Amino acid sequence: MKVSVIGAGYVGLTTAACLAQIGHDVFCSESDVEKLSKLQNGGMPIFEPHLQDVIKGVRKVGRLRFGSTEEAIAWGDAIFICVGTPPLANGDADLCAIEGVARAIAKRASGYRLIIEKSTVPVQTGGQLRKHLSVHSTNGLRYDVASNPEFLREGTSVEDFLHPDRIVIGADSPRAADLLHEIYEPIVKQRFTCPIHSDCPKRKDPTFLATDTNSAELIKHASNSFLAMKISFINMVANLCEVVGADVTKVAEGMGLDPRIGPAFLNPGIGFGGFCFPKDVQAFVRIAEKSGCDFSLLREVEKINQRRVEHFVEKIRKELWVVRGKKIALWGLAFKPNTDDVRFAPSLTLVKALLDEGAEVNAYDPEAMEKAKSVLPNITYCSSPYEAAEGADAIVIVTEWDEFRQVDWDRLRLAVERPLVVDGRNMLDAAEVTRRGFHYVSVGRPVVTPGQLPSAAKDVHSVEGVQVEAASVLAK
Ligand code: UGA
Repeated sequence: MKVSVIGAGYVGLTTAACLAQIGHDVFCSESDVEKLSKLQNGGMPIFEPHLQDVIKGVRKVGRLRFGSTEEAIAWGDAIFICVGTPPLANGDADLCAIEGVARAIAKRASGYRLIIEKSTVPVQTGGQLRKHLSVHSTNGLRYDVASNPEFLREGTSVEDFLHPDRIVIGADSPRAADLLHEIYEPIVKQRFTCPIHSDCPKRKDPTFLATDTNSAELIKHASNSFLAMKISFINMVANLCEVVGADVTKVAEGMGLDPRIGPAFLNPGIGFGGFCFPKDVQAFVRIAEKSGCDFSLLREVEKINQRRVEHFVEKIRKELWVVRGKKIALWGLAFKPNTDDVRFAPSLTLVKALLDEGAEVNAYDPEAMEKAKSVLPNITYCSSPYEAAEGADAIVIVTEWDEFRQVDWDRLRLAVERPLVVDGRNMLDAAEVTRRGFHYVSVGRPVVTPGQLPSAAKDVHSVEGVQVEAASVLAK
């Protein structure tokens, strides 16, 4: 099928590349001229595993081209809208870009088109799109509007697209539903040449869930908000563990063994970030408010997340006593591993807090340093975790890159001023790090010092409203 994708962000680019990979003829547009020319010249505006290879392959056989919005509108029988919906100051999703695309389609397209919203949008956006298209259409455009939310995680988006658990479509006409089924058939049947695996791991075929547009739109916001809630929940459990002297890893393991709960998204840390969860939770709260539904549960999820960095800084403060003048080796800037994305990353707030207190920050990230430089100009960027650790008073881990699991702790022991690791992602093995002579502080787990077995915290702590003397709690 002739398919257009408008917007070459990580969702649009992955969608365009993967739809071409499964056999469609795809035209992808990008309004940022610099980004567009990079793509047209074979470059990549983002780091996303496998994506560059897939794009290279499908461009070679002529199934993917890049160009302007106008060309994209002229090309596709189906048009996927993948433009950004960033947050406004009041938390609402900014639908400016979506509106602009709808207007351009209405003005330029003729004949029948299936217009698909893939960007994350508030419920009832499909209805607004229909209204807008009919108001502005000048060329006798006939159309259906459908919703097809994406569930792509940055860092694994190609794999998520080609081997999804579910494909959700919201269509209010049989013609729209049939077309979307046709587009996704190779994925539903898992019949395509997989660019990632030579032998795809056996898994269940994806569920193709067809619903109305409003429900599909809600599925996306509700899914992201639920996952964010899971993270904030385990982060609060981690706080409690720190006070009473329990180990959150064990608590999460015990909870996750219940299939109704499941083990995923129960890793505590310095909070969720990225361009999806923070803005989607906010937008979902606003949607509920405007609909007269009290969703204050999600306000708490947000608040808990906002306090994560401050809670983490407190850990650093507690160890260093005086932060001013201390050298911090900051490992990781991306909001999560395997991406170069630093949007709404906890690292941004953490670095600001450390600089405000007078620390010197020497950072290293395998992929995100270029993007970080424009938003964090006042720190030193290093070429390796070792360089960052040179003379450091603390190694602070913000992103759980695999590379940090493989470092040579003996070499680091010689490089640092003080052997202290503050691990915001609980990614390291406490026994291993302390065996190498480091003092190890993590999240929701007892502090471990060299030569000591992990032991329960016995101090008086005050964590977000919980004030307990741990020893007395343990004695009961
Ligand atoms: C998320 C969803 O997982 C995707 O399904 C969705 O399509 C996407 O948003 C989107 O709306 O476009 P993504 O933002 O790439 O994907 O990242 P996640 O892997 O979901 O992680 C989000 C944040 O939660 C990260 O900061 C991560 O470090 C944090 N997290 C995740 C935790 O703190 N603990 C966990 O247990 C899991």
